[in-house]
Amino acid sequence: MYINFWYPMATAEEVEADKPLKVQALGQDFVVFRDSEGQAHCLSNTCTHRGGSLSGGKVRGDCVQCPYHGWQFDGDGNCKKIPSLGPNGSVPARTRIDAYPVEERYGMVFAFLGELGENERPPIMDVPEYDQEGWHPTLQHYGIKGNYERSIENGIDPAHNEFVHDTHGFGGEDEEYKIGDMRIEAKPDWASWGNGFWHTFNAPPLPEGQMAEGRTQAGDLEVGTGHHGPNMVWTYIHASETIWFHQYLFERPLDDGNIHLYLLCMRNGFLEDKHDAYMIERNQYVADQDKVVIEDLRPVLTPPTNTKEFMVPADKVILMYREKLKEWDAEGWRIDVDKVESNRIKVAYAIPSPARRDHKGWVLDAIPLQAGGAAKAELKAAG
Ligand code: FES
Ligand SMILES: [Fe+2]
Repeated sequence: MYINFWYPMATAEEVEADKPLKVQALGQDFVVFRDSEGQAHCLSNTCTHRGGSLSGGKVRGDCVQCPYHGWQFDGDGNCKKIPSLGPNGSVPARTRIDAYPVEERYGMVFAFLGELGENERPPIMDVPEYDQEGWHPTLQHYGIKGNYERSIENGIDPAHNEFVHDTHGFGGEDEEYKIGDMRIEAKPDWASWGNGFWHTFNAPPLPEGQMAEGRTQAGDLEVGTGHHGPNMVWTYIHASETIWFHQYLFERPLDDGNIHLYLLCMRNGFLEDKHDAYMIERNQYVADQDKVVIEDLRPVLTPPTNTKEFMVPADKVILMYREKLKEWDAEGWRIDVDKVESNRIKVAYAIPSPARRDHKGWVLDAIPLQAGGAAKAELKAAG
């Protein structure tokens, strides 16, 4: 799991006014709440006084109030009030708590869980069709008891459709089956944050009543897919010249073995709301098939070297994803999960926030990260 990326913390509706929400991400707890203007904020959940769980408290004005002794923290993480000091007590600066940049977009609340300044941050995956005329969104979310890297690899894997999804493949019954040319083509504006490809894909006719476009015969679909950052996937399904589905999957690892997934699907047909429930149901049908496979993969995490699995040409983009992860390892952004785990009940860590660059003296230790040196050397050796 990596710091310094945007993660979907909740849907916009889940973050109610006047009610702090506890959200787990990257193995840590966060509190998400709205201020008096309705602006969403995200803080580390551990109170700097004596470790109270802020999300168990209340929203008071623009602050979240700890349930234990009532300390109040604003959306920038500054402690504004320590009740036991009395009305004139002055609050020491060191009581500040990590606060993360938040963006509310596409019906979701995203937080940037890391310390990079505004201009250095990898962007949230772009959804150019959102709010555009002629497109209609649906958003759904669900959990998987598995590892998010495994899930992203599933999302960009062209060869599983034939066997996992009866709506997309022939279940191994097609004697001519083969993965055709993968046209590797990173999307230009995201080029440095992911890899993707397009390919032509022969899909079976759909059983009666399935999918509103009603493909009555086997036929070729144009499909593009790729990842953006460690935790996001885009999949464009061009069912015909005119019927397009553009799907955007945003994942939040709760920890190394649990994921929360937000699937935003844009469609350019069947635009009325009345089709939403059916689209969501079909998407969930497909997602649940992936879930069954992902939850039973072993090891739960991808192995640390590719020699512990046997890769074939259809796995090319998966290997490219793993290469990309190494770049972020080399940056030193990967959390040292073993160390965090060995200190689980002894140390409350915080994901370092951008303010750590400007201020010294924080109550909570920043989460331990893996040194980037080994990955850097490996990348250099590979040229
Ligand atoms: S632990 Fe939060 S106010 Fe005391
Ligand atoms: Fe799938």
